[in-house]
Amino acid sequence: MSSDDRTIHNLALAGFMGTGKTSVGRLVAGILHFEFVDTDEMIETQTGRRIAQIFTEDGEPAFRKIESEMVRQLSCRRNLVISTGGGLILNQDNLDSLKQHAWVVCLWASAETIYHRIRNQTHRPLLQCPDPLARIRELLGERDSAYRQADMLLNCEARPLREMASHLAYQFRSVLPLTETPP
Ligand code: S3P
Repeated sequence: MSSDDRTIHNLALAGFMGTGKTSVGRLVAGILHFEFVDTDEMIETQTGRRIAQIFTEDGEPAFRKIESEMVRQLSCRRNLVISTGGGLILNQDNLDSLKQHAWVVCLWASAETIYHRIRNQTHRPLLQCPDPLARIRELLGERDSAYRQADMLLNCEARPLREMASHLAYQFRSVLPLTETPP
């Protein structure tokens, strides 16, 4: 997709589970005076079910369909910071749709860091397995090329949350003038 096809109104955060998309996203939204939305939260609100419940009752393909529907809903909105579920941009159509209206940043961390962050959490169905670290390594390997299609990769191990958020807000503002006046 060429930059001519894009009209950037939003900032989307992608990346693996546990990389801090929600925490950083809320902070950046505050700095930019944008609304913060999280695709998993949208799914839970609209279906009235938890993500884990959807995986157990209907399976992952059904979850992915709902996820794509959220991407479709977001395409006509503006001034949003969108935190996306860790598997959302693996679907090329989802990524293409997001890129039409959002600058897409992928947060990045090592498998070990991710494991330490998520090891006591139980709400992520893909990591409820006997060896979560091995699973994280495997999934990161499978997802590597998809994550690299983001507009920017940001290593989230390198600096504190607030610093990452200001950096992102600064970078985002520098992208906006290509298409419209920054807020
Ligand atoms: C998933 C990540 C989760 C959630 C679902 C699947 C994934 O979101 O969408 O459990 O495939 O990586 P977070 O990345 O916000 O944990």
